[in-house]
Amino acid sequence: MCGIVGYVGEKQAQDVVIEGLRRLEYRGYDSAGIALVVDGPIAWAKKAGKLANLEKELAESPLPGSTTGIGHTRWATHGAPNDVNAHPHLGGHHRVALVHNGIIENFAELRAEIEAAGDELRSETDTEIAAHLIERALAEGGTLTEAMQQVCARLEGAFTLVAIDAEDPSRVVAARRSSPLVVGLGDGENFLGSDVAAFIQHTREALELGQDQIVTITRDDVSVTDFDGRPVEGTRYHVDWDLSAAEKDGYDWFMRKEIFEQPRAIGDALLGRHDPAGRLQLDEGRISDDELREVDKIIIVACGTAFYAGLVAKYAIEHWTRIPCEVELAHEFRYRDPILTRSTLVVAISQSGETADTLMAIRHARTQRAKVLAICNTNGSTIPRESDAVLYTHAGPEIGVASTKGFMTQMIAAYLLGLYLAQVRGTSYADEIARVVTELGDMPGHVQRILDGSDDLYALAEELQQARVVLFLGRHVGYPIALEGALKLKELAYLHAEGFAAGELKHGPIALIEPGLPVFCVVPPRGRDQLHEKMVSAIQEIRARGARTIVMVEDDDTGIEEFADTIIRLPRVSTLLQPVLAVVPLQLFACELATRLGHDVDQPRNLAKSVTVE
Ligand code: M6R
Repeated sequence: MCGIVGYVGEKQAQDVVIEGLRRLEYRGYDSAGIALVVDGPIAWAKKAGKLANLEKELAESPLPGSTTGIGHTRWATHGAPNDVNAHPHLGGHHRVALVHNGIIENFAELRAEIEAAGDELRSETDTEIAAHLIERALAEGGTLTEAMQQVCARLEGAFTLVAIDAEDPSRVVAARRSSPLVVGLGDGENFLGSDVAAFIQHTREALELGQDQIVTITRDDVSVTDFDGRPVEGTRYHVDWDLSAAEKDGYDWFMRKEIFEQPRAIGDALLGRHDPAGRLQLDEGRISDDELREVDKIIIVACGTAFYAGLVAKYAIEHWTRIPCEVELAHEFRYRDPILTRSTLVVAISQSGETADTLMAIRHARTQRAKVLAICNTNGSTIPRESDAVLYTHAGPEIGVASTKGFMTQMIAAYLLGLYLAQVRGTSYADEIARVVTELGDMPGHVQRILDGSDDLYALAEELQQARVVLFLGRHVGYPIALEGALKLKELAYLHAEGFAAGELKHGPIALIEPGLPVFCVVPPRGRDQLHEKMVSAIQEIRARGARTIVMVEDDDTGIEEFADTIIRLPRVSTLLQPVLAVVPLQLFACELATRLGHDVDQPRNLAKSVTVE
């Protein structure tokens, strides 16, 4: 939520900052702004709406040249998304400019203090008070770094702050508490960004910051302290993806590109995780096998699409390990006083690693002595840093706000975790584990086949352009896929879309069925448990009431044609792995329908990529 950029070096800061904001715009697009240290008071510009509005403004009224600057792209929390509330915010005398991601919880009290001192606040934001406080601290002497320390000590909540001082062009200073911030290490220049995409075209060397730390960047130096001013070491790392990963590569949307990257992403998520005999090795864990053998309950916490990956994982983990596994929305978890012990394993699933609700859930779990394992896509982000172990999903950067390859690799990582637990605890036979590992290895090819045959989905999107309601039905692992299919349509096409467990239909939702209503149905593979037959009965029931059925079914599953208005064929795989395939047509359909409806697929209204506020 909100993208932040900072730069000091030899290049024109405006160019570097605007380029960084373009790559971070997926984090929030309610407004954008920039501030530069120039000869005189801070130079700044900010504009409601997308970054393009700011760029237009800068083209019409250019700012003076500068090599030190900050920028922001906003997802609004306090105050409407207008020009005044856009960041940067300035101190009373325009000496300090500041951008912010997060929420300053005690802002009402600080606001009253500033107003009582006679300073006029222009915006409705919680951010502006920090700019005033820093400017007042600076006026008493000392550096911007020292002023930042003083002010951070007074702030409550979660925040990343980045500030410049009109009287000191040599530095940009930032502070971080529970909100993302990473430093880009250049040669004669340094960068700050909410994530590495902000500076990936300039450097792939980065420095991770810890909780409650302040960083000062100059052209030739980066120094990090805690909030009390004591020096601390950041953790340096090399970013293992490059600029091309952050570009559209000829696709119309990042989302479409990311859907088509899924065969590669699955391969990368599996890479190096098993030996030739199919025996698994998880190399990024700080939880010992002995501790895993002690686990008597697993609780998966996550939000949105990651929560649905958790629902899929539950079926697989319980089946392979026989450990009871609950799945909870992270924002509900800690408020219900969950029962956690030393032998509870909490698994946090998060693409961004920054989702505040999930972060708070794992913090709560750790205070109760539970072990926490993160399944995460973003190296060095807060959730894995605060977990006892991490399984990275290696999907590469996901820029489209709607998660696709992130979801896919979360499922793959969760399967690997389940198989690993089964291996360590001896709850599945080695040849069964090896068989699933082999089947996982076939998934990139199967997904590619679905992608290659997607023309029918485009025709379907054309046909369903007028639909106002779309339903999704599934059973077993198909149920979370129904939920995910519906979420994708809500996010992208702004349609009323709902996913149901097919068995629940007769308990109420069947009343929604009316002639012509489109219903996607995920049919489980044929098996011993009659799930398939029960799903076919549900399809017959809704068809009898006039639903327009879009049936997703295995290649060799015949006999279903008479109940299906449209058939989408899926390669034959085992039941537990079917979600990996079934989700792909639903992603493509949502992307295509939203495109035809003229929506911004990568930046849907009201959303932001990583939700760093509770
Ligand atoms: O970064 P996370 O995986 O923690 O994000 C969780 C949700 O906010 C996210 O999956 C959201 O639901 C997506 N927009 C879904 O497409």
